[in-house]
Amino acid sequence: MPTTPLIDAGTIARRVAELGRAITEDYGGQDLVVVPVLKGSYMFAADLVRHIDLDVAIDFLGVRSYGNQQESSGVVQITTDLSHSIEGKHVILVEDIVDTGLTVAYLHENLATRQPASLKVASLLHKPSRTRVPVEIDYLGFTVDDVFIVGYGLDFAQKYRNLPYLAVVTDDEA
Ligand code: IMP
Ligand code: MG
Repeated sequence: MPTTPLIDAGTIARRVAELGRAITEDYGGQDLVVVPVLKGSYMFAADLVRHIDLDVAIDFLGVRSYGNQQESSGVVQITTDLSHSIEGKHVILVEDIVDTGLTVAYLHENLATRQPASLKVASLLHKPSRTRVPVEIDYLGFTVDDVFIVGYGLDFAQKYRNLPYLAVVTDDEA
């Protein structure tokens, strides 16, 4: 499937470093639990935590969203849950992209019931034109148009996650 580069590796690296510095300042020395949502956010999260100068724990959430490859149905199932309690902890949920908002809205609601001290959202990308549920993104990398994005962790049918930059799938049938 043809892809066209959209955001290069250097631009991503600079933005991710900025987000890490902002998080470091905002949490002022407090401990943090970073929760990447698998699989799409693994690369973003790996780079982001390297720019957070705090005591950071990492715990993963695996989710399955029912629907086809490019459409989220809003029915989200947690396939891998956190391995530790987040009660009383400062938590940042890390997503690759907020598209309709359904996934983050569901996960935010779910994690909030576990009584964290605070709960924020970091997302590499946001497609505001596709919003169905408004979600607050506290740390956002880039806003993108309504195109299908791959690379830097994001996939199309499990491919392209290893691209070191963000690209757009250009095939009409994609
Ligand atoms: P939402 O529930 O519609 O916000 O969709 C969120 C999930 O859909 C993301 O975490 C991605 O896994 C997937 N997704 C949405 N748009 C894209 C895209 O452009 N490229 C790759 N995955 C996407
Ligand atoms: Mg995802």
